[in-house]
Amino acid sequence: MQLPDRNELEKIGIVASDSSETRAKLLLEEKQELRVRSEEIVVIDTPNGYVLGVLRSGSGVNEALKANAYRPSVAYAKKGGVPSGAREIYTFEIMVIGVITENGIEQNRLIIPPRSNVYLFRKGASNPLEYVARNRPVIWKACLDGHEDWKIPFDSSFLTYHIGVFGATGSGKSWLTRHVIIPVLLEAGFKVLVLDWNGEDYAPYFKDKAIPISRLKLDEKAIVSYIMEKAEYFGYSSSYRDSNPVKEALEDYVSKRWEEVSQKKPEEIFLDMRSYLDNSIKQIVTREDQRKNALRKMEYGFKKLKPTDLDAVRGSLSIEELVEELSREEAGIRVIDMSLVGSEEKLSFFNSLARFLEEGMELGESLNIALVIDEGPQYAPWEPKGIQGESTEHIKNLCALGRKHRLCIVIISQGIAGDIGINAAVRRNLNTQFFGALHPLDMQEADNWLKPYGIQREYLLSLKPGQFYFVGKANPSPIPLLISFKPEG
Ligand SMILES: Nc1ncnc2c1ncn2[C@@H]1O[C@H](COP(=O)(O)OP(=O)(O)OP(=O)(O)O)[C@@H](O)[C@H]1O
Ligand SMILES: [Mg+2]
Repeated sequence: MQLPDRNELEKIGIVASDSSETRAKLLLEEKQELRVRSEEIVVIDTPNGYVLGVLRSGSGVNEALKANAYRPSVAYAKKGGVPSGAREIYTFEIMVIGVITENGIEQNRLIIPPRSNVYLFRKGASNPLEYVARNRPVIWKACLDGHEDWKIPFDSSFLTYHIGVFGATGSGKSWLTRHVIIPVLLEAGFKVLVLDWNGEDYAPYFKDKAIPISRLKLDEKAIVSYIMEKAEYFGYSSSYRDSNPVKEALEDYVSKRWEEVSQKKPEEIFLDMRSYLDNSIKQIVTREDQRKNALRKMEYGFKKLKPTDLDAVRGSLSIEELVEELSREEAGIRVIDMSLVGSEEKLSFFNSLARFLEEGMELGESLNIALVIDEGPQYAPWEPKGIQGESTEHIKNLCALGRKHRLCIVIISQGIAGDIGINAAVRRNLNTQFFGALHPLDMQEADNWLKPYGIQREYLLSLKPGQFYFVGKANPSPIPLLISFKPEG
């Protein structure tokens, strides 16, 4: 298909005054206002060729009905009469995608003449986005909102420029990720690793591909900090939490014995750990009173810690093995179910994972992995504190290295900016975005992205679950498109 077929087109109006090369106003023919909707794709017939565009910002004007002054029509309406509709004008703003050429879409540089004819694609017409996708390595998924048979092209060469999914709670982010983004990534040849923060959005849907975080081997640092927390820091407070003889003994235990004992029953580990700690405290602490104090603290901690708590850190599957397993599979996907452990453990696992991936990339490996991070602000908030500082840094590194080493990062977040959003330095790395129904607090930020394309705030507040504006590098159309999808199965 070189150019749209005339038989597939239907005239709906003409271009009105004040057009430019990037936008034009569409004057609708009579009654077309009853069926032509915003977000439709139209064709303008210009001397330069067929120009493709998207309809936005509709408006209806009837000069005779301006309500701020006396006019016969207004007076008539006041009495309950129906004034004439003869002077009514309906318009839409056309946001220009580009000129259709043999090589696909090219930027339109010529002013669109007023009076040019504007056409809509008839029902059953072939997908106009094929012009946009021409000569690009694309994967077809989801659909243009309102056109189930018109799939959306995703440019696979830009997936390693990373992806952000934004929308208020319930806007359909996790569904979009499951039904659209993950399938696109798999089709593009990536192995997918999903971090499911609550174990609710992904793990139940990829049952045999889900791995509880407790099966994974954490590094020593992560194990110690987990046990410390569960043992309520052995009763130590403030600055003593990080430096005390019990913690020292525990670190010693984890580094020397964990490998060996971790496969035993939790009760056995519990007792083994207790006697080891008891012994080493007696050896390390020489002053009688301090020793007694430390032993008392240790007993306190072991009252708080339950043998079953240790189940979360007895994992034996190393990250290396996990990634290897994944890369051997065709369309490999794994979901890490992170429920049942606290945020510290989740983030320490993430940091171990990030360190592993970074090392690989620094050695020049091409990873071919997509990492899907739902609940983005938990990892990289606006103002990261403590362990989040580390995870935020890691995400930035992964993004920067990922472009050259085939690692795609997908971050999902309820908010875009500010204290409900994700860290600005991380956000700058997400070059493809999906915006669903947004929280009003995010309107200012969303305007920065979408207002230049004629997308009104009201649109963004009223999107239904599963409707998203698709913006940025992976979208071959320079103008954002409103997409939706039908969940399969
Ligand atoms: N394409 C769709 N078609 C129909 N319904 C949908 C679609 N996408 C999402 N929904 C509905 O919206 C609900 C919420 O979707 P989802 O769990 O993906 O939201 P979310 O944005 O991830 O929310 P949260 O931020 O709370 O995790 C779904 O349970 C489903 O009912
Ligand atoms: Mg979700």
